[in-house]
Amino acid sequence: MRRDVTTLPRVNAWMHKLGGTFIVFDGPDGSGKSTQFDRFADLCRSHGLTVCEVREPGGTGIGEQIREVLLDPKNTEMDLRCEMMLYMASRAQLAAERIRPALARGELVLADRFISSTLAYQGTAGGLERDDILAVGHVALVGAEPDVTVIFDVDGKTAGARLNPLLDRMEAKGEMFHAQVREGYLEQARLDPDRHIVIDACRDVEDVWRDLTGRLGTYFASR
Ligand code: TMP
Repeated sequence: MRRDVTTLPRVNAWMHKLGGTFIVFDGPDGSGKSTQFDRFADLCRSHGLTVCEVREPGGTGIGEQIREVLLDPKNTEMDLRCEMMLYMASRAQLAAERIRPALARGELVLADRFISSTLAYQGTAGGLERDDILAVGHVALVGAEPDVTVIFDVDGKTAGARLNPLLDRMEAKGEMFHAQVREGYLEQARLDPDRHIVIDACRDVEDVWRDLTGRLGTYFASR
């Protein structure tokens, strides 16, 4: 099935535009974004692109150490501002060590989560102001801004059924929190529709894949 899509002429028509661009896949826990992420990275490589894949939090030696602190279920007393800054600290290291150098070399950067996660989890759901998060992001990223963020939108029931029963500290925050996370992502897309693509991720993997490649194709064909 995957090969059918990679050989379609409409895919070939826009793939060459992806070098030197920065695409983020994001969405609530259980949205299935990581499956689509792996498949999209394979598709891009099969078209000759050099892909720099990054996953947050983590993706560097320092970032992986920060990830352990962030996701350890024992750290129940973590202050929200500390949490936000740890995610951003991991991201600053990732931007410096991997993202900016890859973009400078003309590679495609694909990120599984980015500042859109902080805006949804620590912002809309957590309660921090959007402008405060963006101000810290400005310091952390030094221009490493995504060209487009793909949001994999999923309802709580579908997402819950996809999650491993051993939840990490963020996944264990409960239904209400995760409903706000979802709303946080949709709000970002409403505020900046030109830089976001919202995909209905409640459907099965193949339907989501077809929609994803079609929508990215439309997006990049016009650029
Ligand atoms: P993962 O399960 O996709 O590896 O992500 C780890 C968890 O961290 C997930 O529940 C989302 C959360 N998270 C935030 O709360 N804020 C952030 O900025 C990022 C990148 C992730």
